[in-house]
Amino acid sequence: MTDRTFESAAARPRILIVGNAGQLGRELESIFAGIGPIVAVDRESVDLADADQTHALVRRAAPNLILNAAAYTAVDRAESERELAYAINEQAPRVLAQEALERNALLVHYSTDYVFDGSKPEPWIETDAPNPLNVYGASKLAGEQAVENIGGKYLIFRTSWVYGPHGNNFLLTMLRVARDRDRLSIVDDQVGAPTTSIALARATHAIVTGILAGRFADWAGLYHMTCGGAVSWFGFAQAIFTRAAVLGVKAPALTPIATKDYPTPAARPRNSVLSNAKLLARFGVELPPWESALDETLEAVRNSA
Ligand SMILES: NC(=O)c1ccc[n+]([C@@H]2O[C@H](COP(=O)([O-])OP(=O)(O)OC[C@H]3O[C@@H](n4cnc5c(N)ncnc54)[C@H](OP(=O)(O)O)[C@@H]3O)[C@@H](O)[C@H]2O)c1
Repeated sequence: MTDRTFESAAARPRILIVGNAGQLGRELESIFAGIGPIVAVDRESVDLADADQTHALVRRAAPNLILNAAAYTAVDRAESERELAYAINEQAPRVLAQEALERNALLVHYSTDYVFDGSKPEPWIETDAPNPLNVYGASKLAGEQAVENIGGKYLIFRTSWVYGPHGNNFLLTMLRVARDRDRLSIVDDQVGAPTTSIALARATHAIVTGILAGRFADWAGLYHMTCGGAVSWFGFAQAIFTRAAVLGVKAPALTPIATKDYPTPAARPRNSVLSNAKLLARFGVELPPWESALDETLEAVRNSA
C-alpha cells in the first residue's frame, strides 16, 4: 500500500519551520499560520550543525511539511568557516530530507544564485551547469544535491539577493549607513534580482497550498524563484534612496565602482539573474517585479519603525 501521509494530511498538515528567526523564516511563519499546527525553531532550540539534534527535532515535531529557511548565509565569512558552512548548508538539509522521506513529508528547501559563476550573459535556467565561485555557493550546491539524491517529496527554490523589513540585508544596511555618510561607493558590475522575503513566502505558500489541494502532478524538483527584472547593486541603491525620503533618510551621493575596487574574501558572480520561466510554467506563480516589491518592503519598514 502506498503511504500517503503528506496528501492525506492536506486538510491540516503539521508544519515544521526551521530557521524562523531569519528573514525568510519569519515571513513563512506568519503566512503559514492557520494552515496547520506549526512548530517553528531557530538556533536557540536546535543547532543544525549537529545532525543528532536535527534528527531529534524532526522526530519530535512529526511534521507532514518541513520548510527549511535556515542557512549559513555569511558569504564572506564562509571562506574561513568552510566546515561550519557545509554542516548547515549540506549536512542539515540532508538530514531533513532523510527524515522527510521516512515520514513521506514534503521538504521545501531554498538555495542560491551563487551556485553559478556569473559568466552567462542571459538569465540562468535550472539545467545550466553550476560552478560556484565561493564556499557559500559550493556548500549550498552540495545541499541541493543532498536533497535531490535522497529524493522523496521535495521542492528546492533557488533565489537571489534576499532582503526584507527585518534582519541583515542590503536595504537595511543602506538605510543605516546613510545616517552617517554623505557619499557611498557601490558595485555596479554585479547584476541580479533583489528578492523580498515577503514575495518568497507568498509564492511558497501559493505553491504548497496548490499541491495540498491536488492541483499539480509531478511537482517535485528544483525551481528558480526570484522577483522580476534585474539591476546592479548600484542601481538597487539608487532605487532605495529615490524612495527613502518617506523614511526621513537623506540620500547620500552614490558613486558606481567596479568589483575589483571593492575586494571581498568571497568572489561573486557578475550575472546572477535567474530565469523564472519554469516556476511560472509549472505552477502559474510569478513574483512581482523587484521595483514594486521594494516599494512594499519600504512600506513595511515604515510601518515597523
Ligand atoms: N540572504 C540572501 O541574500 C540569499 C540569497 C540567495 C539565497 N538565499 C537563501 O535563502 C534562504 C533564506 O535566507 P535568509 O536570507 O532568510 O537567511 P538568514 O536571514 O541569514 O536566516 C538564516 C537563519 O538560519 C539560522 N541558522 C544559521 N545557522 C544555524 C544553526 N547552526 N542552527 C540553527 N539555525 C541556524 C540563522 O540563525 P542566526 O541568525 O542565529 O545565525 C538564521 O535565523 C537560505 O537558504 C539562503 O541560503 C539567501
